Amino acid sequence: MSQPSVARMYDFYLGGEHHTAADRAAGEQILRAVPNIREIARANRAFLGRAVRHLTAAGIRQFLDIGSGIPASGNVHEVAPGARVLYVDVDAEAVAYSNELLRGNDNALAVQADLAAPSDILGHPDYARLLDPDEPTALLFLSVLQFVPDEVAVPAVRTLREALPVGSYLALTHPVVPPDDARAAPIEAVYRQTNARATAPRTAGQLAALAGDYRPVEPGLTWVTHWRPAGDPGPADPVGMPMMAGVFRRDTTPAP
Ligand SMILES: C[S@@+](CC[C@H](N)C(=O)[O-])C[C@H]1O[C@@H](n2cnc3c(N)ncnc32)[C@H](O)[C@@H]1O
Repeated sequence: MSQPSVARMYDFYLGGEHHTAADRAAGEQILRAVPNIREIARANRAFLGRAVRHLTAAGIRQFLDIGSGIPASGNVHEVAPGARVLYVDVDAEAVAYSNELLRGNDNALAVQADLAAPSDILGHPDYARLLDPDEPTALLFLSVLQFVPDEVAVPAVRTLREALPVGSYLALTHPVVPPDDARAAPIEAVYRQTNARATAPRTAGQLAALAGDYRPVEPGLTWVTHWRPAGDPGPADPVGMPMMAGVFRRDTTPAP
């Protein structure tokens, strides 16, 4: 508990109650470097809601939410009641709290697994119990891949993506802060002290590549507030809101 956890720091940004003094101290350091971090976190959650509603309208009935975190307002099963949702997080506390809230819900549960071992996710007994492997699924990577280096994230995302049938979707959000941005070094210094141990900065091109042959849904990979906004999203502002979001669809099975 003396080491800040990225799950609890995010809870702190969102105004939740599941964080310690160490998380608050680390979160305050981030607030000094990125004064609108709370707004960015809320924009990320708002995207979750819009993306899940879009996917539900497109006929998706099952979700695999990787790096689901400590439950906050507007979780996937709340936005898509009746859908089957498997939440996955490496953080035991986030998983335990999720399952506490999900008690009595037969359509959603959380399991502890590391994205680094996608076979642990696909081979988990609760995966087979909850999700039909032949039915299109939405794979969510919301604000998680920045904690996973390329050598792990690229093969892991590919394995999960390729396990899903045609008609499946992949949605992601990810900060995009260029290395020469004044915020980059302090962000890295703080996250080095957390259980994630580092961050994995990525460009828009690297994010699009993570979707592989899944094709972007309109408007493509864009700034998080600009993905199908409910109202006027304001100007596209990569400096103020350096978070990108996209939804991609699997249209075809790749040739062997
Ligand atoms: C910033 S929170 C995002 C929560 C939620 N997805 C959202 O966007 O609101 C990131 C979450 O990713 C989890 N995480 C980090 N690395 C992970 C890994 N290798 N495998 C699974 N989960 C991971 C953390 O424990 C944390 O709960």
